[in-house]
Amino acid sequence: MYVLSPFCFVLTFGLISTSHLEFMTFGTNGGTNCAVCTVVLGLAEQLSVIHNETVVKGLERICYFLPDPYQAACKDFTDFIAADIIKVFSRDDTVDTACHKLSFCFTEPYSEMCHIFPIRPKQRLQLETMQRHRPHRIGANICDIPGIKRICTWINDIFSKHDPAIDLDGDFHSVYQTLRGTSWRGKDCDDERKAFHPGAKPINGDKSVDSNCNGIYGVNPATGRDYEEELCGTSQPRGVAVLGDSIGAHFHLPREWFNATEMSLKVFEPLPFILENELDWPEFSSTTAFMNNTEKFHDVLHGPIDSMYMRMFDRNHCNHRDYQNIAVNGARASSMADTIQFSLKRNVTDDQPMIVFYALVGNDVCNGHHDTFNHMTTAEEMKNKSISTLNFLTKVLPKGSHVFFVGLADGAVLYKALSDRVHPIGSLRNDVTYSNFYDYFNCLEISPCLGWMNTNATIRDLTTKRAMELSEALKEVVTSHQSSFSNFKLYYVENPIDQVLNEWTKQGGEAWELLEPVDGFHSNQHGQALTAKAVWENLEKLYPDVLGPVNPNNSKIKSLFGNQGGYL
Ligand SMILES: *[C@@H]1O[C@H](CO)[C@@H](O)[C@H](O)[C@H]1NC(C)=O
Ligand SMILES: *[C@@H]1O[C@H](CO)[C@@H](O)[C@H](O)[C@H]1NC(C)=O
Ligand SMILES: *[C@@H]1O[C@H](CO)[C@@H](O)[C@H](O)[C@H]1NC(C)=O
Ligand SMILES: *[C@@H]1O[C@H](CO)[C@@H](O)[C@H](O)[C@H]1NC(C)=O
Ligand SMILES: *[C@@H]1O[C@H](CO)[C@@H](O)[C@H](O)[C@H]1NC(C)=O
Ligand SMILES: *[C@@H]1O[C@H](CO)[C@@H](O)[C@H](O)[C@H]1NC(C)=O
Ligand SMILES: *[C@@H]1O[C@H](CO)[C@@H](O)[C@H](O)[C@H]1NC(C)=O
Repeated sequence: MYVLSPFCFVLTFGLISTSHLEFMTFGTNGGTNCAVCTVVLGLAEQLSVIHNETVVKGLERICYFLPDPYQAACKDFTDFIAADIIKVFSRDDTVDTACHKLSFCFTEPYSEMCHIFPIRPKQRLQLETMQRHRPHRIGANICDIPGIKRICTWINDIFSKHDPAIDLDGDFHSVYQTLRGTSWRGKDCDDERKAFHPGAKPINGDKSVDSNCNGIYGVNPATGRDYEEELCGTSQPRGVAVLGDSIGAHFHLPREWFNATEMSLKVFEPLPFILENELDWPEFSSTTAFMNNTEKFHDVLHGPIDSMYMRMFDRNHCNHRDYQNIAVNGARASSMADTIQFSLKRNVTDDQPMIVFYALVGNDVCNGHHDTFNHMTTAEEMKNKSISTLNFLTKVLPKGSHVFFVGLADGAVLYKALSDRVHPIGSLRNDVTYSNFYDYFNCLEISPCLGWMNTNATIRDLTTKRAMELSEALKEVVTSHQSSFSNFKLYYVENPIDQVLNEWTKQGGEAWELLEPVDGFHSNQHGQALTAKAVWENLEKLYPDVLGPVNPNNSKIKSLFGNQGGYL
């Protein structure tokens, strides 16, 4: 079953603030509990058809795919629920009706019955009548079920903290990969000395040790000069960071986890790693990707890799490891200003300058509430909160830095691109389209973005209108604060995702090819790589100073220092 909690996060990232996350307990009509039940049982049912076995056996099969400790939890869950499943799952049932009988889903008064798979009208009527005449029970919380509880707590913990968990010297750079470690920020080269971290100005010329973790240190015996000085001294090194949301962090749920015909032991192998990174893939994201897809992820991540950081490194090898991904699923202007931004670490005097992208792509207009417009950020609030962030940045960014406000994307493209396509959860019978999927999430009030993921064109258009107002607000802040900060220059740029999708479709591509298939909301690996290229080319054209000069010593650095200590 554990498959499922990840699934909930899809639903949650639009809603939750970063300080607390009660991922199993929101929505109506059963909310996330209902969705978890439906997706898990839906997959179990499809497996049971594929393998000609019972639904309970299908569920056991899912457990078998999972690595420990999820496998054990899944088995406990199956033991707990098996008898009930056998009791309620009759020949006439669909997964939706079974989950209603199991009370994970219910139908509030004056509400329609929520379902993702097709359902016969007669059955719907029966269920609705049955439920209306019975106070709905329990409100079973899946996280209270034996075996699952432990894992829910653990996951909740990961998903509510966004600073490196393992960081002995408190410089916010770690030697551990996940839990906001090196996947997110350059690896520390000495986790016991706070002054030693990626992006530092070299201490004492790095004559004998590497203090800025770029792998360059020592003295050239031929000239008697420090290598840092000789190879990097005039090269104007700088780091790159994103203050962002799930797009910046590169949220990605493997399609193979939700397609009954593709599930296997192999595709679940990296599950623990993926959860420890909050279902995000910063190491392959458009701003901070730093490595090629490794063998480890070939089965669950597909597409080319490119990033601002990789290009900054290619330009100047002295920038090695100087990246920070400060992006959190669900982030919006308020959570950014109130908490998330403080995780960006830069010392105004002792570190190199930085290029910072403030990229909140949509959560300010995205939520799952039926009265969605009342929960959107207003233009006034957008200004207020983005200015708070600038006031913070002026305290931490070294002189010579650059800050880009990135406009919101136009999420109306999602519906256009996906509505009639089949969602992975309907793979066996091709019976679930994204329209069905959107309606279902909206019915449960757990959509990451009811405004855009909506079959009602009026609602989609109004959401786009608000997004444009918020972009306009950011633009105004940039204009009015043009000369307010002495340590960085401030710019506004349109959201590159719109540009990427336009160019892609103009060249004959289809928009869905650049979108995440499971959540139907994010750009996928290919989209991330094209975004990096678009941003880079725009900067090269409009603001080449931002990128700094090409270092003529790059090949010398490579021959002297190899891979400069690598990344992991
Ligand atoms: C499915 O399994 C049942 C017994 O478990 C068997 O009678 C039936 O022939 C099987 N069907 C197929 C298509 O293999
Ligand atoms: C990634 O792989 C591509 C193709 O194999 C190669 O050209 C590129 O140099 C690699 N990049 C890094 C950072 O290893
Ligand atoms: C920046 O570094 C200097 C020297 O190491 C230190 O005194 C100062 O406290 C640091 N500033 C911050 C904000 O950490
Ligand atoms: C934002 O609004 C709050 C409350 O009105 C106010 O105290 C704060 O100074 C404002 N911040 C900015 C940066 O305008
Ligand atoms: C599910 O997997 C099968 C087999 O790989 C594939 O052909 C199909 O397109 C997938 N379905 C979806 C909706 O992704
Ligand atoms: C679409 O949404 C608008 C605004 O909420 C509403 O007035 C309209 O009735 C809806 N249209 C349909 C077909 O549901
Ligand atoms: C290193 O680059 C500088 C310019 O930044 C150049 O003047 C110098 O000749 C280069 N040194 C070597 C060893 O290539």
